[in-house]
Amino acid sequence: MVVCLGLFYTPYHPENIMTPKYPYDLRTGYPNTEILVPHEKLASIAQDLLLTDRATQYGGVLQGPLMPRERIAEWLTDHSTQTATPEQLVITAGAIAATDLVCRTVTEPGSIVVVEDPTFYYMINILKMSHIDVVGAPMTREGIDLDALAGLVEKYGDRLKLVYTIPSFHNPTGVNASPENRKKLVEMAQQHNFTVLEDTTYQWLYFDSPPPPLCRHYDEGSGHVVSVGSFSKTLMPSLRLGWIWAANEAHAQSFTKFKGDAVASTLNSGMVGEFIGRGLYESQLEYARNHYSERCGVLVEALQKEIPDYVEWDVPQGGYFVWMTLPEHIKAQDVLELSQVRGADFMPGRHAFVDGADDRYMRLCFTMMDDEKLQTGAKIIAESIEAAAAR
Ligand SMILES: Cc1ncc(COP(=O)(O)O)c(C=O)c1O
Repeated sequence: MVVCLGLFYTPYHPENIMTPKYPYDLRTGYPNTEILVPHEKLASIAQDLLLTDRATQYGGVLQGPLMPRERIAEWLTDHSTQTATPEQLVITAGAIAATDLVCRTVTEPGSIVVVEDPTFYYMINILKMSHIDVVGAPMTREGIDLDALAGLVEKYGDRLKLVYTIPSFHNPTGVNASPENRKKLVEMAQQHNFTVLEDTTYQWLYFDSPPPPLCRHYDEGSGHVVSVGSFSKTLMPSLRLGWIWAANEAHAQSFTKFKGDAVASTLNSGMVGEFIGRGLYESQLEYARNHYSERCGVLVEALQKEIPDYVEWDVPQGGYFVWMTLPEHIKAQDVLELSQVRGADFMPGRHAFVDGADDRYMRLCFTMMDDEKLQTGAKIIAESIEAAAAR
């Protein structure tokens, strides 16, 4: 048997986050769990669930245990413009697994899946596991480039089955798609009969004001939008817990067809369900938003002081990342090598593009490091940009 490891080999993926390779780690897009995770509250919930034998059995239906689906549905109803029901939800091992399930369901080998170019780099590999072709549509400041998408619709016709989008606080660019952009994307999906898979991982991690409504807001239940979400960045990534929010029960059930893990962990989903049910998630989110906003502020202040004017970047309004565009003559790879020698790391933006060719971009994540490390990291990276420019 031949096992293709190449598909999973992402050389830029952090291998062991407990001991980052570089002391000034602005690469890894993980939360700082020592700060984010409400250890005692979760420990107490886990203990309650185990001691009362409420989370020891298999979870029943493929969509996941009912109690957490009920709680997540209530929460989504309170924090979106639509009513969510437990029947519309499938509990998954995170947003990544949710995306995989949706892609496997709506595509067949040879289908085309469009992603924003750049996108969350890991999803490119995940989508390809469905034996489909991934094609990029450029990002604009308003969201996915709809003219480019129209061109792809024209080119690929019925083969185009899915558009994967991160409409709010996009990874890696930080862009918030405008309401018009979301609406037109959904209208195109309805007109040309493809599915919009919206990844809402950062939707509720805004710093000042919430982003526009989810893409599904513009769909009114026609089933052309499927939302996936996650508790990794707001509560605890090791739970491996996320959801698919479909249009109705039959739609949700269609996404369980390829569910290789059968049913979600009763314990992990039960912990989240209890956490929401006890009214703790609201203050947890508030805490996460404040914490990330503060981290972002420290990095932004350091960058404003250190980064040369010829580098383009925007101050993030939420999410995890600062996205930088270098002038054409400076290569992010050169900046990276010079930075790493001095202990600072970031993700070269080319990894987030489908063809990975253009080396003018840098993604900096502000969530992992303390003040001193963010400031020193920013300084090293800024000086490395100047040194690379002088080469
Ligand atoms: C856009 C996006 N989706 C999903 C994830 C991960 O989701 P999960 O840990 O729930 O699989 C990330 C971050 O790692 C991300 O940036």
